[in-house]
Amino acid sequence: MTSDLDSLQQLASACAACRRCGLAEGRHQVVVGRGNPRARLLLIGEAPGAQEDLEGLPFVGRSGQLLDRLLQSAGIDSNRDVYICNVVKCRPPDNRKPSAAELAACRPWLEQQIALVDAPLVVLVGATALQGVLGIKGGITSLRGQWRPWQGRWLMPILHPSYLLRNPSERPGSPKALTLDDLRQVRERLAQLPAPL
Ligand code: URA
Ligand code: SF4
Repeated sequence: MTSDLDSLQQLASACAACRRCGLAEGRHQVVVGRGNPRARLLLIGEAPGAQEDLEGLPFVGRSGQLLDRLLQSAGIDSNRDVYICNVVKCRPPDNRKPSAAELAACRPWLEQQIALVDAPLVVLVGATALQGVLGIKGGITSLRGQWRPWQGRWLMPILHPSYLLRNPSERPGSPKALTLDDLRQVRERLAQLPAPL
């Protein structure tokens, strides 16, 4: 029997050869995921940016560094506690938002990843992840920080770190402070999960 880890490797190889949408044209690398494939928390972002496209890893540019710092402040270790991926695996030109057609084309990869990592908690990072996974367009500011049951898992949308980079205030009630509160909620729920078998 192949383990889920083998299957994730197979998925990464298959995904690396994917040409299902036009984003294949401009990419250097397909960006599949990073972190602990056995983590109980799956983070899903938007799409690779320039740095991600060069390194082949998600969330390694400025947004990713901020995300790692926020996770750490909330007591979540981004190597041990999380697996990180994106709704779209190839970089859109000029970092534009992926189109609905591109989201749909890439969706089967994401679905396989969600099933293989099989994390009970899922965090949607930003409005595009919210749209790509739940089909909800807009409303991230009112939906962030709220858990919802989804396909046998618990899912929470949070604000995207690129938005926080543009709104750096850390005052109480600021987007950054709210995001830290949200991630603390995530850490609490992580701590309450029953121990894995
Ligand atoms: N880097 C990623 O990998 N995803 C994002 O959503 C933003 C930056
Ligand atoms: Fe394939 Fe997704 Fe890349 Fe499009 S973005 S080519 S669907 S891996």
